[in-house]
Amino acid sequence: MLYLVGGIKGGSGKTTVAVNLAVGLMLAGRDILLVDADDQETATDFCEWRNQRTEGNAGFTAIQLSGQAARNEILRLAEKYQDVVIDTGGRDTNSQRAALTVADVYLVPFNPRSFDIWTISKVSKLVEEAQHLNPNLKAYVFLNRADARGSDNDDAAEALKEVTALTYLDVSLGNRKAYANAATQGMGVMELQPEDKKASAEFAALFNLIIDFEKNVESKVRSNVKSDVKVKG
Ligand SMILES: Nc1ncnc2c1ncn2[C@@H]1O[C@H](COP(=O)(O)OP(=O)(O)O)[C@@H](O)[C@H]1O
Ligand SMILES: [Mg+2]
Repeated sequence: MLYLVGGIKGGSGKTTVAVNLAVGLMLAGRDILLVDADDQETATDFCEWRNQRTEGNAGFTAIQLSGQAARNEILRLAEKYQDVVIDTGGRDTNSQRAALTVADVYLVPFNPRSFDIWTISKVSKLVEEAQHLNPNLKAYVFLNRADARGSDNDDAAEALKEVTALTYLDVSLGNRKAYANAATQGMGVMELQPEDKKASAEFAALFNLIIDFEKNVESKVRSNVKSDVKVKG
């Protein structure tokens, strides 16, 4: 499967979702490749740090690709791995368009804020255009950094549900320090020790929902899954 995490808003949580998805697939026993298609290279930095922390046992490989040429390279690499997770930058880039022509699943996180939500119609147009070239493309939206309380989540969810080109996933990721804490350790949130139960459970719920839709990853992750990646220090 080729998963693409995108959108056209910086800071929405694309890299956070991409690296946690990569970790989740790895924990489910899949052989995966993480492709960093963002020139800010955050996913690459994360993977370098993960490699250092685990003394080279990160559990998955990461490479950088960009531009229109990324398409053929992704297709070639997709043959070698069970799954490929692609992280893109926060703009409507050539890389993102190229990856959309080959992806199976497009995941778009949205923060429940107006500036973010206002981009949904552009994302929807991007999906519709991509589906002309890639009719198999399935696109999902969900809330990231959802508020613990208040009506903003519901307002944002209503706006996301109205868009027909993307399916709204009714499992949001809360605004939690665990995501940054895990990244600081080169870990996914489901690997964090001591475990942040709420954070790992909600990521597992999102992960399992995506996998349920796609049905090709046999072993689901449990929120209390123990990683066999050993962290130094
Ligand atoms: N659910 C979350 N809770 C708290 N912080 C988050 C969450 N998702 C992302 N962040 C933080 O928000 C910032 C931007 O996230 P990032 O994944 O880099 O976004 P993008 O790749 O879309 O630019 C980072 O500092 C990240 O740690
Ligand atoms: Mg990013």
